[in-house]
Amino acid sequence: MTDAADQTLSDDDTAALSVVLSRFGGADALSVQRMPIPQPQDDEVLVRVRAASVNPVDYKIAQGKFPPIGEDKLPLILGRDLAGTVEAMGTRAHYMVRHGDRVMAHIGIDRGAQSEFVVAKAVEFIAIPEGVDFPEAAGAGLASMTAWQGLFDQGGLDNGQTVLIHGAAGGVGHLAVQFAKWKGARVIATASAKDVDFVRSLGADTVIDYKAGRFEDQVSDVDLVLDLIGGDTGERSLAVLREGGILVSTVQPPSDDKKAGRDVRIAPRFMAQPNAAQLGQVADLMAAGNVRVTVARTFPITEAAAAYREQEEGHPSGKIVLLLD
Ligand SMILES: NC(=O)c1ccc[n+]([C@@H]2O[C@H](COP(=O)([O-])OP(=O)(O)OC[C@H]3O[C@@H](n4cnc5c(N)ncnc54)[C@H](OP(=O)(O)O)[C@@H]3O)[C@@H](O)[C@H]2O)c1
Repeated sequence: MTDAADQTLSDDDTAALSVVLSRFGGADALSVQRMPIPQPQDDEVLVRVRAASVNPVDYKIAQGKFPPIGEDKLPLILGRDLAGTVEAMGTRAHYMVRHGDRVMAHIGIDRGAQSEFVVAKAVEFIAIPEGVDFPEAAGAGLASMTAWQGLFDQGGLDNGQTVLIHGAAGGVGHLAVQFAKWKGARVIATASAKDVDFVRSLGADTVIDYKAGRFEDQVSDVDLVLDLIGGDTGERSLAVLREGGILVSTVQPPSDDKKAGRDVRIAPRFMAQPNAAQLGQVADLMAAGNVRVTVARTFPITEAAAAYREQEEGHPSGKIVLLLD
């Protein structure tokens, strides 16, 4: 793909400029082209998208890695989360919203969010609170649901417990740190040296530069490890859990034989699900100033390939967000 827009393809206003994957091959395989505008049904809304974030899963899908997508599903619009205004409604959606309302959503894997017009289901979208802009709202979607569900639904984190969060400066991690602090937990976090101050500013009690030393020499007896890294990091984390503690991974968790006979739990790999009720709780925390989404960098949708490269290789602190007119 060229990083410049292919806006000349069509001026058809019944089609939506979208980030499209037509063949596997990473950022080079993306194109920005016009796709048909979907129609909202029943309690769905059609959103005129103003911002959509980039998540690692987007470049993983574009590379043909995870989750595996069949060639028969291509061409595919990418993206999991968005913010914008209500453009049209299904027959029952007027109970919830009005034309022009500002909404944010984490949408299901059956659609893509990086498009000018996207259908969101009632279980996926909420109103954007006052004082929260479109890029922040878009950045909250998948990342916040992953952090929330990982910490609380999978990990059972509670007031007074200690959590170790690996990858704390990234999209999911920077929100997980804030959610855990809000819950009243003690937070130990790992990050690169350049992000130590950033993660501390989010409220982490202890931040470990993971390249400067082994975290397991500095941490022990934690109730929960939220592992956003996987591999060796996940395996080494089992040693820092207290007896009965639990490791939750957003990637591939270690196998049971890595427990070395210790009484610790490893949660099965989980996939964050859209949950408007939980997204509403996150929005309340944002509105109250208890949680902020850090947008590291924005790109126009026409530069989607550059945004994908930045997400994969640029070590952003927080979220990468695409902007739409
Ligand atoms: N299962 C699900 O539903 C789900 C949902 C969302 C995300 N995920 C996955 O969860 C992972 C994290 O997502 P994300 O959006 O937060 O990614 P991200 O924004 O790329 O953040 C990852 C962070 O980890 C840091 N890092 C890299 N290696 C590290 C290490 N060994 N120890 C500690 N920190 C390290 C990175 O910074 P430096 O490279 O500068 O150190 C970066 O700040 C991704 O693999 C993603 O695909 C899964």
